[in-house]
Amino acid sequence: MSRKILVTGGAGFIGSNFIHYWVDRYPEDTIINLDKLTYAGNLDNLKALEGNPRYYFVKGDISDSEVVGGLFQKGLNVVVNFAAETHVDRSIGDPDDFIRTDVYGTYVLLEAARHNEVECFIQISTDEVYGSVEDGFSRETDPLMPRNPYAASKAGADRLAYSYFATYDLPVIITRASNNFGPYQYPEKVIPLFVTNALDSIPLPLYGDGLNIRDWLFVDDHCRAVDLLIQRGEKGEVYNIGGGNLLTNQDLTGQILKYLGLPETLVRRVRDREGHDRRYALDSSKIKKLGWTPGADYDNELKSTIDWYRDNRWWWEKIKSGEFKAYYQKQYSNR
Ligand code: NAD
Ligand code: TYD
Repeated sequence: MSRKILVTGGAGFIGSNFIHYWVDRYPEDTIINLDKLTYAGNLDNLKALEGNPRYYFVKGDISDSEVVGGLFQKGLNVVVNFAAETHVDRSIGDPDDFIRTDVYGTYVLLEAARHNEVECFIQISTDEVYGSVEDGFSRETDPLMPRNPYAASKAGADRLAYSYFATYDLPVIITRASNNFGPYQYPEKVIPLFVTNALDSIPLPLYGDGLNIRDWLFVDDHCRAVDLLIQRGEKGEVYNIGGGNLLTNQDLTGQILKYLGLPETLVRRVRDREGHDRRYALDSSKIKKLGWTPGADYDNELKSTIDWYRDNRWWWEKIKSGEFKAYYQKQYSNR
């Protein structure tokens, strides 16, 4: 039976990859992409879907109850809420939009879902809600200790979504994924920033001592995990989704430069991020018990991602010469 899926934030990095994944896998389903097209939203990510009769784009804000209510009234089977302000450094500079979108926007979606029937509401949360994990691996039952405005706004949305399950029996599932990488990621994030800078011989601004650790997850593996949870996840539950590839930023930078055949002298040590979380690490055994495993070949996934940016300058040169230029200047000029 064909389904109607609302994907919010579908013009962003993970949302657009998810829409491509879904259209390839379930061509009979209808997808509605609700996206405000902030600086991070980019319809170039979805060019291949132009003219697809089962894909609809709606430009709108998840905090707008009229727009959201109208979409729910048409009848939806599944909602996947990717829409968010997502960059930690921007949240440190100005948290306002993070609270509005990540917390209030999620509330508006949950309210609409409560008053209209849906079979499954996936709230895309993040590993950052656990805060910095000095050693060991976060489990879904661990306390949340977000340490920057982005992580705190995501933690608020995460628990708000759970409250709609506990209180109203809304069929909510919450995912907490680790750092994603892949095509179509806005070049403010470390992998596309470092790859595109390196391709233009611009220094790579490595924060602090470069020893902060992130767990890298290929975006397609994340999409597969969300698909599995829509099919088989237990309502009201939280699922960690970790790639299992724990790397210091220094090592990650070295891998990028080595693959591109460029010297380490391109690295520029810069002032650290305020409140910079030292380490994120997830225990993903709960979703693995449902049958999910991350891709086994991180090295090739990283290489194919680097290749993608090398081969798709048309995609990122436009961004880097637009909104991003002023942001980069402000963010890095005094570091
Ligand atoms: P992104 O910044 O690339 O995309 C966010 C999208 O949301 C953009 O298209 C933007 O236009 C849209 N948006 C923002 N505010 C909106 C609003 N008020 N109404 C409608 N649309 C709005 O983000 P991403 O990296 O693709 O992340 C997607 C989701 O996954 C987020 O919820 C994020 O917290 C979560 N997540 C990301 C990662 C990661 O490594 N990127 C890891 C774990 C979880
Ligand atoms: P980022 O891609 O912003 O993701 P997150 O903060 O959500 O983990 O950053 C990943 C890591 O890379 C983080 O430890 C900060 C570091 N980083 C740099 O060293 N330099 C940079 O210019 C950026 C953007 C990040």
